[in-house]
Amino acid sequence: MDDPAVRAGEPGWIPVCDIGRLKAETIVSVAGLDMLVIWNEGDVVACERACPHEQADLGLGQVVAGRLFCPRHAASFDLRDGRISSGWPSPPLRLYPARVTEEQVWIEAQGRQPRR
Ligand code: FES
Repeated sequence: MDDPAVRAGEPGWIPVCDIGRLKAETIVSVAGLDMLVIWNEGDVVACERACPHEQADLGLGQVVAGRLFCPRHAASFDLRDGRISSGWPSPPLRLYPARVTEEQVWIEAQGRQPRR
């Protein structure tokens, strides 16, 4: 996870918050972007904030056992690949690259994964 190659000013990478805050809050909204960073079982995940089903604010959701639960419906998303729980007519949740360097959480907002 800790990668010294990621430094302030590297094109495309945005500092979000420190890892201590993320561990304490589990879900942190990225200021100025409709994105979230999530502390998930010892790993950092970055994703879009609007639920791909009906655009609920996933920043109000909950993380349980590797899944992000939407606050509006009973659906949840696998935080490894963004897939929604079975039976829901929805594209997957968009995930973005995320890293931690010297206690700082970074995301690459440009590196969007295409919808599958
Ligand atoms: S709005 Fe999120 S599952 Fe329906």
